[in-house]
Amino acid sequence: MNYNIALLKGDGIGPEIVDSAVRVLEVIGKKYGHVFNFTPYLIGGCAIDATGEPLPKETVEGCLNSDSVLLGAVGGPKWDTLPGNMRPEKALLGIRSAMELFTNLRPAKLYPALKGDCPLREDIVANGFDIMIVRELTGGIYFGERGMREGKYGEEAYDTECYSRMEIERICKVAFETAMKRNKRLVSIDKANVLDSSRLWRKIVHEMAPMYPEVEVSDMLVDNAAMQLVRNPAQFDVIVTTNMFGDILSDEASQITGSIGMLPSASLGNTKRGLYEPIHGSAPDIAGKNIANPIATILSCAMMLLYSFDLVKESEAIVNAVNKVLDSGFRTADLAHGAPSLSTTEITDKIIENL
Ligand code: IPM
Ligand code: MN
Repeated sequence: MNYNIALLKGDGIGPEIVDSAVRVLEVIGKKYGHVFNFTPYLIGGCAIDATGEPLPKETVEGCLNSDSVLLGAVGGPKWDTLPGNMRPEKALLGIRSAMELFTNLRPAKLYPALKGDCPLREDIVANGFDIMIVRELTGGIYFGERGMREGKYGEEAYDTECYSRMEIERICKVAFETAMKRNKRLVSIDKANVLDSSRLWRKIVHEMAPMYPEVEVSDMLVDNAAMQLVRNPAQFDVIVTTNMFGDILSDEASQITGSIGMLPSASLGNTKRGLYEPIHGSAPDIAGKNIANPIATILSCAMMLLYSFDLVKESEAIVNAVNKVLDSGFRTADLAHGAPSLSTTEITDKIIENL
């Protein structure tokens, strides 16, 4: 088969990690008889520099006309002082929204070889953990009404959290279905003791629960969830939560896997076309040094093969290769704790050797 993939390399370490992932996909293509066509488009700071805007029209059109999208990372200090609607991050929100990718799947699991990198006590992670965070991605406070105004104490700024029934139902449907394919345990995370939007969220979760009688569903307040993630991460199977809570909790979850450089993500809507990206950022401090960990991006490709193209064994081949490389003790600098480490290109070579 032929697949057209839009490449959004972005800023910072984005180009390096996307190049690594492309090399892996090319080898998969050769081995399994697929052709992946890659078309690069500008996004983020590099797009601002080249065109004056973070998300050029051609990029949106290119993504909408592709079979799937692979993204590196956007942003950097150079563009930090631009107004909110001109910042590189705005492009990320823009493309998620333009492609109607309301679901963000962020799997956080402890790779056996990385147990020693987990900052949690050994007895806490003795049995590992394997969590799928289902984050709502195109609603909530990220997209709510916002602005500046004169208030009681002078200048003030506001952002609003707003969720419609439709938005809550569609993300919860994904979460229930995800739970059905896994260990059938779903925790819905909200702040229903304070927020009306969370109370509607919780009510809808309860309404939907009888449709999935096999799924054991419970509610958890987000502050408690932040604590439970480090107290006993193995209690979680699938988590469903809002855009902002999902953003925060997925960074926390990534840290207990050993490194944020390990976590892939898939952003999906109602079609097979998705956007796949590591959950980490552009890491401008290490950009261009060939030391970034490309594994999160490579694993994002494995998710693309699985969710967008239904290429199950090809996807597994990538995951297995990453595991073998880690089992053999190879590490990038983020996981080496000062010991000798492999560069971005070297660890990519190792993964390719094991495909
Ligand atoms: C993420 C990032 C983005 C988000 C930023 C860069 C807009 O933190 O993908 O987790 O908050 O969604
Ligand atoms: Mn984030």
